[in-house]
Amino acid sequence: MEHLSALTDWNEDILKQVLAQAAACKADPARFANVAARRVLFMIFEKPSLRTRVSFETGIVRLGGHAINYDVNTSPLGAGKESLPDTIKVVSRYADLIVARLFKHADLEEMIAHAGVPVINGLTDFSHPCQIMADLLTIQEHRGTLKGQTLCFLGDGFNNVTHSLLQGCAMMGMNIRVGCPRGEDYEPLPDVLASARKLAEAHGSEVIVTHDAREAARGADVLYTDSWMSYHIDPSELERRVAKFMPYQITAERMADAAPDAIFMNCLPAARGYEQTAEVIDGPQSVVFDQAGNRLHAQNAIMMRLLEQARA
Ligand code: CP
Ligand code: NVA
Repeated sequence: MEHLSALTDWNEDILKQVLAQAAACKADPARFANVAARRVLFMIFEKPSLRTRVSFETGIVRLGGHAINYDVNTSPLGAGKESLPDTIKVVSRYADLIVARLFKHADLEEMIAHAGVPVINGLTDFSHPCQIMADLLTIQEHRGTLKGQTLCFLGDGFNNVTHSLLQGCAMMGMNIRVGCPRGEDYEPLPDVLASARKLAEAHGSEVIVTHDAREAARGADVLYTDSWMSYHIDPSELERRVAKFMPYQITAERMADAAPDAIFMNCLPAARGYEQTAEVIDGPQSVVFDQAGNRLHAQNAIMMRLLEQARA
């Protein structure tokens, strides 16, 4: 049974196939209107969501299927009356696909171990593969290609989106530079970094971690940032984190350090005045709403692949 826990579950060829299918879905949605007829997507979210929740539900309906958004707070699981394995074994008897947004990645792995249908990672504290599939589609559309492009991520390096970007960029032969504060609470996980470096080497690209934001941004084709206060971070951390991350804010100056035609990306939700200034996110180089829109198409391609693999 194939699942999507992290992008490294796949290889470069599969990523390319899924991206091509996403582009096809976007160009001609009518062609795919019945591919998931009567299929049911079960969605479970432990954290807030706008994009993931709404794009998956819209997506499965556009493919002819149906979504159930299961409220953890009113579930036997949430009440501590039923275990995660039992919940997933039961759901697998009804639904055809599962999307889960969880705190612990280990819980997602436990779900996968007990699931009888494909499970899609809708974000854990560790990774966010669906986001990066949409991001790659967006970069391809705006820059014409992925291979050889340089993406600079500034801000929280010890972050789900950063980890998945490292994997996705390296697998597609893109260069990735992460500009973040020093320290294990701010830098990417060493294991993720080591495997991204290996992948990048095999695909002719480069992975750099630096603490110099200007150096990271210099000549980049894509400047990318994410919240400094991810869903799992306690609000009491705000002041301390803002002081740490402010040197990595994406400002007009950082945009000027990048290539003249660079694009600005943020997976959203965004906080103006924090990870980027309002003039950057609301400016002409920003593609954040195209990026959010592409969640729908990328995820439809992901769902189609996993449904097909499960049938095979
Ligand atoms: N980017 C993203 O996953 O957004 P949501 O948290 O709104 O789903
Ligand atoms: N790093 C962010 C991503 C939100 C889509 C978080 O985990 O909240």
